[in-house]
Amino acid sequence: MKGGTKLKRLRLGVFASGRGSNFEAIVKNIKRGSLSADVKLLITNNQEAGALRIAKRNGIDFVIISKKDFKTRDCFVEAILSVLEAHRVDFIALAGYMKKVPAEVISRYRNRIVNIHPALLPAFGGRGMYGKHVHQAVLDMGCKVTGVTVHIVDEIYDHGPIVAQRCVAVKEGDTPETLAARVLRVEHELYSQAIQLFAEGRVEFVGGKVVIRE
Ligand code: GRF
Repeated sequence: MKGGTKLKRLRLGVFASGRGSNFEAIVKNIKRGSLSADVKLLITNNQEAGALRIAKRNGIDFVIISKKDFKTRDCFVEAILSVLEAHRVDFIALAGYMKKVPAEVISRYRNRIVNIHPALLPAFGGRGMYGKHVHQAVLDMGCKVTGVTVHIVDEIYDHGPIVAQRCVAVKEGDTPETLAARVLRVEHELYSQAIQLFAEGRVEFVGGKVVIRE
């Protein structure tokens, strides 16, 4: 942490739909002391999510909220907002969340929701660009580098201001799987580092972009 900055312990809510390795990396980095936060809640839409097992193992509260289980969209949105409020979540990290975050949640947590994407946005982002599809598209294009992006979540997929990016080399003979594995290792480091910038109060919004204060 840089001198003079104010360290805050974030009350994190994590949204995850799948395996949950980024969620697990966040939990590990908190335990190690490199991320000043506590995960107060996991929200998933998928009762089979690996992320659920990680939450259980670590004694983290979790809730399964799926739109299809609610009579109306309003009830669904209210369920998300009320559980976030009950846990006094003040910052949200999407970690492989495969659903669109309702606009009401985005506006309640404006500039306090981040997402991680396994490529260098704005390339290889948007609808349909998830998981293996991203890495396949990078290889099909013959890219020599790809990377990881952490960005603010706004109303458009993979679109909000970029908080942090890191490059990852594409190697001769890479398959989507080998590339995904190399990118994932970087995701696990970069995501916590980017969230830590918020804990340190170093993230500013200037002209629609993120500026990191020294
Ligand atoms: C990661 O590659 C992340 O960048 C993307 O979804 C994947 C989630 O993986 N948004 P995991 O569930 O965190 O292992």
